[in-house]
Amino acid sequence: MSIVVTGASGKLGRHVVEQLLEKVPAGQVTAVVRDPERVADLAEHGVRVAVADYNAPETFDGLFAAGDKVLLISGNEFDKGRVRQHSVVIDAARAAGVALLAYTSAPGSLTATLADDHRGTERALLDSGVPYVLLRNGWYHENYTENLAPVLEHDAVVAAAGEGRISSASRADYAAAAVAVLTGEGHENTTYELGGDEAWSFAEYAAELSRQTGREIVYNPVTPEALTGILTGAGVPEPMAAVFAGVDAAIAEGQLVVDSGDLSRLAGRPTTPLAEAVAAALKD
Ligand SMILES: NC(=O)c1ccc[n+]([C@@H]2O[C@H](COP(=O)([O-])OP(=O)(O)OC[C@H]3O[C@@H](n4cnc5c(N)ncnc54)[C@H](OP(=O)(O)O)[C@@H]3O)[C@@H](O)[C@H]2O)c1
Repeated sequence: MSIVVTGASGKLGRHVVEQLLEKVPAGQVTAVVRDPERVADLAEHGVRVAVADYNAPETFDGLFAAGDKVLLISGNEFDKGRVRQHSVVIDAARAAGVALLAYTSAPGSLTATLADDHRGTERALLDSGVPYVLLRNGWYHENYTENLAPVLEHDAVVAAAGEGRISSASRADYAAAAVAVLTGEGHENTTYELGGDEAWSFAEYAAELSRQTGREIVYNPVTPEALTGILTGAGVPEPMAAVFAGVDAAIAEGQLVVDSGDLSRLAGRPTTPLAEAVAAALKD
């Protein structure tokens, strides 16, 4: 029996594997990656590395074993049909008879285009009959704190989210929830709505940035159309820019507020405050 993590070379996947190593022997963990060099350090610690690609179903042949617990981390190739890609993993997991397949989804309240692939994957997983866990991850703090350069250049947070609030948490928090599910018992066929303990608005985010930098950073709310224009002007392809603007419109409607408490309950501790993520990003 192994705990198998796909997307293990990604930022969330790495947090998951590192936190798993605090709880189980390295020999019980399998990291599924496209490029083994990206996880050479984990292999050195005894983690089994398997090479597979969501675009190549045959690479998943024989990868899973009966009784495995699998974390399917959603891919980031938005133009390659992610439901089909994720179904490759689900089909292989069913064929092997895994004990559990947890999928990193999006909040059930989110109706923006970005959520379509997640809803499609959830349907495929439920239809497969494989014991499942839906980890409906809310937004990462890092979506914002890893992209501070334009904010600091213009002393302005620009978003099309109006007064909307957002319950983000750190990747490490979502990883902790995944690890709790993969190493615990009794999570089969459960849906968790995961988000940070404290929701915040972009005006509050700008105020926190001001406090920590000692500069006056304002929130500049714009329309989704204006944001699309700003993003395409900065080189983001039009379809992606529209998807990002759609997410902001959803935030304006409160669709990324998650108040279930599931994340801190699973992690066994409060979620990371936004201010902490801001401080970490400003230190870098
Ligand atoms: N909740 C949020 O705020 C939020 C924000 C951004 C993304 N997401 C979603 O959450 C996922 C994990 O987040 P993250 O920050 O860890 O993203 P990330 O660093 O971009 O990691 C994505 C992972 O997916 C793997 N992957 C992509 N296409 C693949 C394929 N065809 N076959 C096998 N593996 C493939 C990547 O492999 P390589 O290392 O080989 O590229 C990488 O390991 C993202 O992929 C995305 O679906 C959520």
